[in-house]
Amino acid sequence: MSQLDPQSDPASDTSAAVLDEHPVITGVPMVDAAGEAVRARLDEIETKLDEAVEASTPMITEAARWIMRAGGKRFRPMLVVLAAEFGPRAASDEVISAALVVELTHVASLYHDDVMDEADRRRGALTAHQKWQNSVAILVGDFLFARASDIVADLGPEAVQIQARTFARLVQGQIAETVGPAEGVDPLDHHLQVLADKTGALIATSALLGAKMAGADVRVQQVLAEFAEQIGMVFQLSDDIIDITSDTTGKTPGTDLREGVPTLPTLLVRQQSRPEDAQLLERMDAAVDSDEARAEAVAMLRAHPAIEQARAEVARRADEARALLEQLPDIPARAALAELCTSVVDRTA
Ligand code: FPP
Ligand code: MG
Repeated sequence: MSQLDPQSDPASDTSAAVLDEHPVITGVPMVDAAGEAVRARLDEIETKLDEAVEASTPMITEAARWIMRAGGKRFRPMLVVLAAEFGPRAASDEVISAALVVELTHVASLYHDDVMDEADRRRGALTAHQKWQNSVAILVGDFLFARASDIVADLGPEAVQIQARTFARLVQGQIAETVGPAEGVDPLDHHLQVLADKTGALIATSALLGAKMAGADVRVQQVLAEFAEQIGMVFQLSDDIIDITSDTTGKTPGTDLREGVPTLPTLLVRQQSRPEDAQLLERMDAAVDSDEARAEAVAMLRAHPAIEQARAEVARRADEARALLEQLPDIPARAALAELCTSVVDRTA
C-alpha cells in the first residue's frame, strides 16, 4: 500500500546498517508464545499506524511516516497487546487505540530527540531533520503527538491523564539528561532517574493502558505497569553495558564514551573513585576527543569489576521483574513476558 516512490522510501535507504534493529525483538519469539491472535493484532496496529498519520499534504504525510516506515521494534505496541491478554476484552478496539497512542508518542519523541542529538541516521535511514530541516522535524513530532492525543481522547479522561503524565515524565527526563545532575545529586541516581523517565515511563504506560483497556483487574494493571517500567530499565542499562562489552551490535564500542554520555559502568567507576583507577578516569575523560583514549578506556573497562557489578544490577532488576510476573495468572502472555525478561538480560552477555 506504499505510495512512496522508492527514492524517498526510508526502508530502501540501505546505505547504513539498521541502527536499532534488535535480535531480542526482531525474532519476536515471545509473540509466538502468546499466540496467533496477538500477532494478528500487531499486524492491524501496523496498518492503523500508517493511516493515523495521514496529513493534509503528501509532503507532511511522507515526513510523518518517515521514521515509522524505516522500521523499529514496536516494543511498546507489543507490550500493550500482551498486557491486554490479562483482561476479558483483549480483542477490543480500545486496546488497538492504546497501542497507537504509545507508539505515536514514542515516534514523536524520536523526531525531537534526533534534532537534539544532531543525529544523522535513525533505524538506518536519514533522520527527518537531515532530509527536511530542523523546524520540519520538530513540527512533525508535534503533529504525531497531536494525533496520539486525538486517539487517546476516545479512551476517556483517565487515559488522557495517564498519557499527559507520561508525556511530562518523558520531557522532564529529556531535560534532566540535557542539563545533567544538580549540585549535590549523585550522578548515578540522576542517570537512573533519567532512564526511568525518558524510557521507563512510556513502557510502563504501554502495559498499563493495554491492561486497562482490556478491563483487567486493577491490581493486575499495577503489576504489569511495574513490570514494564523495570524491563524498560533493564533494556536501557543493558545498552549501557553493551556500549563497552560488545563488538557485534553494529555500534562502535565506546560510542557513549565518545559522546560523553554517562552509562552505568562508567558511573560506577566514577562513584567508587579507587586510587588504582586514576589512569582509567583520565582515559575516560579524554575519550571524547581521542579515538586512541576511547579504545584504551574500553579495554580497561572490560577488565574492570564495574562491568560485573553493572551486570549484577541488570540481573537483579530482571529477577525483580520476573518475580512480579508470579503475581499474574499463568497464561501464554505471562510466559511471553518472562521470555522477554530473559532475552533482555541475555543481550548483556
Ligand atoms: C531516545 O533517547 C529518546 C527518548 C527515549 C525520549 C525523548 C523525549 C523527548 C525528546 C521529549 C518528548 C517529545 C514529544 C513530542 C513526545 P536516546 O537518545 O538515549 O536514544 P537513541 O539512541 O534511540 O537516540
Ligand atoms: Mg538519541
